[in-house]
Amino acid sequence: MQHADIVSKMTLEEKAAYVSGRGAWHTKAVPRLGVDEVELTDGPHGLRKLAPGAKGGEFTNLVHTTAFPTASLSACSFDPELLREMGGAIADECLEHGVAMVLGPGANLKRSPLCGRNFEYFSEDPLLSARMAASWIRGAEGKGVATSLKHYAVNNQERRRMYVDAVVEDRALRELYLASFEGAVREGKPRSVMCAYNKVNGAYCSENAFLNDRVLRKEWGFEGLVVTDWGASADRVRGLESGVDLEMPESGTANAGRIVRAVREGRLDEAVLDRAVGRVLDFALSAPSGKTAPDAELAERNHALARRIGRESAVLLKNEGALLPLDPSAPVAVVGELARTPRYQGAGSSFLSPPRVASFLDALGEAGTPFAFAAGYRIDSDDADPVLEAEALALARGAASRGEALVVHIGLTERYESEGYDREHLRLPPNQLALLGKLAAAHERVVAVYSGGAPVETPWIGSVRALLAGYLGGQAAGESQADLVFGRASPSGKLAETWPLALEDTPAHGNFPGGERNVLYKEGIFVGYRYYTSAGKPVRFPFGHGLSYSEFSWAALELPAGVASAGSAPTARVTLSNIGARAASEVVQAYAAFPESRIERPALALAGFAKVRLEAGETKTVELPLDPAALRYWDAKL
Ligand code: GLC
Repeated sequence: MQHADIVSKMTLEEKAAYVSGRGAWHTKAVPRLGVDEVELTDGPHGLRKLAPGAKGGEFTNLVHTTAFPTASLSACSFDPELLREMGGAIADECLEHGVAMVLGPGANLKRSPLCGRNFEYFSEDPLLSARMAASWIRGAEGKGVATSLKHYAVNNQERRRMYVDAVVEDRALRELYLASFEGAVREGKPRSVMCAYNKVNGAYCSENAFLNDRVLRKEWGFEGLVVTDWGASADRVRGLESGVDLEMPESGTANAGRIVRAVREGRLDEAVLDRAVGRVLDFALSAPSGKTAPDAELAERNHALARRIGRESAVLLKNEGALLPLDPSAPVAVVGELARTPRYQGAGSSFLSPPRVASFLDALGEAGTPFAFAAGYRIDSDDADPVLEAEALALARGAASRGEALVVHIGLTERYESEGYDREHLRLPPNQLALLGKLAAAHERVVAVYSGGAPVETPWIGSVRALLAGYLGGQAAGESQADLVFGRASPSGKLAETWPLALEDTPAHGNFPGGERNVLYKEGIFVGYRYYTSAGKPVRFPFGHGLSYSEFSWAALELPAGVASAGSAPTARVTLSNIGARAASEVVQAYAAFPESRIERPALALAGFAKVRLEAGETKTVELPLDPAALRYWDAKL
């Protein structure tokens, strides 16, 4: 057990108190033994830290920190290196503020596009999700800032998240929902894992020995500490026994008293308490001491990184007649309040207060692109505003008559998605839908830019000639989007989740968000593209889809001979050429199929991917290690 010397000097009461925090954002100090408190706080897209003097409950009174692209966008980069850089950059800001642990990344799978918190998660695929989470973790932990991989596990909806029981069969649990955490734990080696609020197959995650001890520690070899989600502790004594070490936030004397009594009455082995105390001490005593000196360039460096990540991640979904890129020197008409007031982050515990936010209009101004703007719709209401509509239509008609381009910003507004509740449907706000139809009648080459943490239904796709999915792009979102629309870079993002034609087509439909007490994962292993490809169900845009301004040709695919021995990573090789006129990046994706399998398998499973940048005319052989985890299945009998 770690720090046995200190633990042995602590009284039972001190130990019982130490396994719960001090306030909302600190571990406790033990001054008598020279143990200081350390700070742990959010979040996955940037450091969220209360401003000095902020009162309890003032959740938006925050220090200014970089708002990076959300996980729903950065996953589309298919570039783990970018996530490592993001984790490192957030760690730099943590070190300046003396924060010892940053609460992220989120590795829950996107079971349904309706989940209000999907903006904070990477993908519907466990391999992509695990790889991105592991890289973010390595980036932060590599700088000495601890991370907290969350929310372990099977937390795929916000409705009744504090108590709903996720009922999921072994194969889906092992091959999908736990696989996303397994890869992140094994490759990322996070200092901590955060247990979720919900139950899994009958037991709260905060006291689930199967998850916290059997799987996490005994099978995956995790040696860090398990911290509860804030307020997730149900029975604290059972929690300790299951392997949950630190309860957040502080729970006062109630649980400490229960722990003391349980030990005194022989219901809790003191060694179990000591083990938890040792793990929390190990975290607290290995935290960086003090704060690093403020780096005047850090904010600008991280803004530039946020812009680059957004640019490398946004997905060009449609580009009819190569309408994009636009000429940055030609006048352009811009419609949509979201072009002036960008949605760049999600609501809830990941909410940040960035030092600055660059809108699409700011980016046009910065680049010297002449533009005219009309809001077209309000973002604080779903009702159409006839005056705004008329102005937008007049601008669109004028642009059409002058042969100028029209860029329309559409997307989900604040109220449509957030931590704490789920979406009810997949539609755009009605006022935007109405305007889009009218704009398409006024201008025949509409470019649409979408902002939102998750997909929408696109019955209006015929009204636009080009569609760029910017998701929630962080504080530099407008610049990243403008960089792509005006060709300062070629898009290279690929969808990390399927865009279905309709909500009714989604695999969890009818079983999301479940009933009063539990939610049944009836779709089993058929989540996301695993379902649509197996069921032969058409979709609007498939997982892995994304267009480029250049063109690539593929040749000489070499596959590993025979079946790889357990644990080795068989490698595929493919020769890729950029036969277009400009430098661009491509994401090579390898999928496993199991045509002769004697057990039920999804039609396809992502088995490997690599992003490669090629100059015009350049050819490269791309090595593609195939992840054995993607080839295995869980045999419930064995
Ligand atoms: C919230 C979130 C979790 C966050 C924690 C602290 O409820 O579920 O992601 O890290 O509490 O804010």
